[in-house]
Amino acid sequence: MTAIDTIRTQDWQAIFSDDEKSLAIGGLESGNVVLLPELAFSLADNEEFILRDPILSPKRKNISYNSLTQQLGGVADDYCNNDTLKAFMARYAKAAQQLVCALLPRYCDSLEIGRTSYRPAEIAGRASSPRKDDTRLHVDAFPSSPVAGKRILRVFCNINPWHQPRVWHLGESFRQVADRFMPLISRPMSLQTGLMKLLHITKGKRTPYDHYMLHIHDKMKCDETYQENVGKQRAEFLPGSTWMVYTDLVSHAALSGSHLLEQTFYVPVSAMQNEALTPLRQLEAMCHRPLV
Ligand code: SIN
Ligand code: FE
Repeated sequence: MTAIDTIRTQDWQAIFSDDEKSLAIGGLESGNVVLLPELAFSLADNEEFILRDPILSPKRKNISYNSLTQQLGGVADDYCNNDTLKAFMARYAKAAQQLVCALLPRYCDSLEIGRTSYRPAEIAGRASSPRKDDTRLHVDAFPSSPVAGKRILRVFCNINPWHQPRVWHLGESFRQVADRFMPLISRPMSLQTGLMKLLHITKGKRTPYDHYMLHIHDKMKCDETYQENVGKQRAEFLPGSTWMVYTDLVSHAALSGSHLLEQTFYVPVSAMQNEALTPLRQLEAMCHRPLV
């Protein structure tokens, strides 16, 4: 059972007690979800169109924002340089970063800011290939973005305007996932990893760690029997709530809902309170060798 640790605040710039900080870091690193059920992200009057207008490009699943370049992606033509939308995404990125720094101060200095994402479309009933289908249980790993062991920490906020929850499944522990799927994955070929970087298939070098995580991700999603029979629990995240998860560690699936904000952070393993719990160290212990 994935535990949900609850912390109450309504303020993105809150100051947290030592007990709250230690609950959050301990919980996240051991594979819990940290839920802030009263932490809503409000929209100003001039931002309301973000909830109602067709701002998503027809073929895309989400709108993305890159804080470094201030570029939007996935936006319908009429909105592709919309300053209000940009400012909104930037505001969420900043709020999420302030929250992580306040609640998880240990990570603050080494935090790498990833993409900000807004997912206005309903996810239930959307057609996609098994590998891209996030309604199937998986741990996060992306073919084009190798992380070389860095953690994927995500801050989600449901801004659905019609009281609809974001419905997730939470699956078995990473240990159980790895025990089940690692024996089915063949060792990476060293030539292959360098070559993919050279050919610009990957943004950095695909390390053995990335190889195993990607294959675990794919094997989980493509195994129909596993998806049907594995122990899972349903979690409903209501509008007006925020939650944080290490999505590389926690087996998760998103079943339904729309209008979700998400900020990705990459955290080095060296910043962890307990390195042994990371996917990197767990897989290394199984393989008896370094994977990055
Ligand atoms: C995912 O990370 O698999 C999707 C989460 C969501 O969109 O709710
Ligand atoms: Fe995911």
